[in-house]
Amino acid sequence: MPSATSTELDLSPLVPAYDSILELAPYQTGKPVEELTREYGVSDVVMLASNENPLGCSPKVTLAITEQLGQLSRYPDGNGYYLKQALADFNNVNVDQITLGNGSNDLLDILARSFASTDDAIVYSQYGFIIYPMLAKMQGAMGIEVPANRFGHDLKAMSQAVQDNSDAKIVFIANPNNPTGTQLEQEELREFVASIPSSVLVVLDEAYIEYSPESNNRALLDEFDNVVIIRTFSKAYGLAGLRIGYALSSVAVADLLNRIRQPFNVSRVALAAAAAALADQDFIEQVKLTNQGQKRWLEKQFDALGLGFVKSHANFMMVEIEVEMEDVTAASIYQALLEQGVIVRPLDNYGLPNWLRITVGVAEENTRLIDTLRSILTDD
Ligand SMILES: Cc1ncc(COP(=O)(O)O)c(C=O)c1O
Repeated sequence: MPSATSTELDLSPLVPAYDSILELAPYQTGKPVEELTREYGVSDVVMLASNENPLGCSPKVTLAITEQLGQLSRYPDGNGYYLKQALADFNNVNVDQITLGNGSNDLLDILARSFASTDDAIVYSQYGFIIYPMLAKMQGAMGIEVPANRFGHDLKAMSQAVQDNSDAKIVFIANPNNPTGTQLEQEELREFVASIPSSVLVVLDEAYIEYSPESNNRALLDEFDNVVIIRTFSKAYGLAGLRIGYALSSVAVADLLNRIRQPFNVSRVALAAAAAALADQDFIEQVKLTNQGQKRWLEKQFDALGLGFVKSHANFMMVEIEVEMEDVTAASIYQALLEQGVIVRPLDNYGLPNWLRITVGVAEENTRLIDTLRSILTDD
């Protein structure tokens, strides 16, 4: 049965909390491997659509998970005592500055629910992570999109947008940003935060920080009570399937977030796995180095294929499809890659119809991507 679009949806006599909910389109995920196999009968699929870790996770995580399997009838520790202790040590913060989430997305949602409602505005950048405008719509808040500067955040313009809108309550910044891979200079970011009134929350989403340690802005927490830093175990730690992330903030903000979050929002398996993953920093170093090497290799290949890209500080690259061939578009290349078992991400929903976002895989996956791309572009 075809699913109804928002305009066709007839809820009457039910009315959603905010009209803007009807403008929302569900978050577009990367095409699942199982779906591709079902639709095209391709079995050997290369998944480069969701910025997951192609190396998996630390082997130490497996043991930690196994130890939990006999206890699944028991609720998790709702306060995540052991994981919070480990995160407090790791990040040099107090335990009461931490909020745990069912993935970092859960925390972004909790933040929006805690601080923004119909009379408020949420500020974010053009080409910023797409969840931010969605959160504004979910809360019935006004979304203020600030034009990007060469695909990255224009912090001066964002600061101006906050000064110009007394309703602004939250500014979301992804650093490095998804899908552009751009990164902000620490000093520039510090100046930006200093320019923002203390009544406006500045959320620094550091989902990809392990790939670019220079994007770690933990120090801002000590200086500014309105800064919140969001991290995840879904990317470099390789635990996307488990759903766990965390927020670092002032004690007062953490206290509020912990009131809003659901009582057991993180499973006992995720708590144990995250603690084991955090303890294995050698694995993270290996992940970072592999990503750097493979990204450099991909840059050379895209150059050789005549495809433009934005310099990325994360584990994915945004590649421009502007080839001088009839009927070749990013959409047609996305489709041709799919049919040959390579899943990447189209970016139409970001207003970037000529671009594809491609996760950096391991050597074998990247070679397959490039070989397939070359054969599509040269028609051989
Ligand atoms: C910038 C950014 N923030 C947050 C998330 C959410 O990740 P998760 O909920 O898996 O932690 C993502 C996922 O792609 C992301 O790219």
